[in-house]
Amino acid sequence: MVRNAASLVLAGIVALLLATVGEPASAGHSAAAPGGVVGGLVAPQGKFPWAVRLSMGCGGALTEPRVVLTAGHCVDGTGKNETIQVTAGVTDLRSRGALIARSERVIRAEGFIDETKGDDWAVIRLDRALGLPTLPLAQDAIGVGRYIVMGWGQTREDAIQQEHRLHYATVPTVPDVKCAVAYKKMGVQLVADEQICAGAPGIDTCQGDSGGPMIGRGRHGEWVQVGIVSWGLGCARDGYPGVYSQISTFKPAIKVAVRKLR
Ligand code: ARG
Repeated sequence: MVRNAASLVLAGIVALLLATVGEPASAGHSAAAPGGVVGGLVAPQGKFPWAVRLSMGCGGALTEPRVVLTAGHCVDGTGKNETIQVTAGVTDLRSRGALIARSERVIRAEGFIDETKGDDWAVIRLDRALGLPTLPLAQDAIGVGRYIVMGWGQTREDAIQQEHRLHYATVPTVPDVKCAVAYKKMGVQLVADEQICAGAPGIDTCQGDSGGPMIGRGRHGEWVQVGIVSWGLGCARDGYPGVYSQISTFKPAIKVAVRKLR
């Protein structure tokens, strides 16, 4: 989602920074990879069965058959909400097998202010249970490693449209300290225990991927959710990784919210 105030503020900071430091305005690295996600691949049908697309232009994951986990900045707040359409069960949004559901109620993280300040998660109760697999939340804090991110968002920072096919990419984590130093230059303070940085030049999530899951392997080799696409400076820029909400930190609060939606 690009329409919220925080993104605009960020864009403003970016413009300022570019003006002062004189970096090239086009962030480069757009090797025109066929990859929502920059530098990724098209997901085959069935690969990520819990991944969903939300009508405001975000992603999400089924954390329960009737509850979607997404980013806090993708929703307006907590309360009754029948405005969000959810497309599920397909990687190609145009395919005939798509399951459509509607939102009933939303709970957003209590402390949410904007995506850069942490607490960037929300859960959405659907009007019906979709008979689809769910994605469990990771048990432990993640370490250094490589994780998969996905979405129907832009494949380039300057793209004018989003994708109808789900894209995914593998991204390496970037240490909090390194990430914090990069974003501090732009006046954004990383909330290290609530945010995970990951990405590489040319590989990142992008506008429209927000809310989608970052996944890794659990103890028994199953997919588990370790992050939620949250924000970044542009997309796939060298030195500016994507920032993801850290599931291990929010897991207890998410569980409480999900229970309230049952
Ligand atoms: N805030 C964006 C959205 O609403 C997601 C941006 C992710 N950016 C990044 N460089 N990883 O879709």
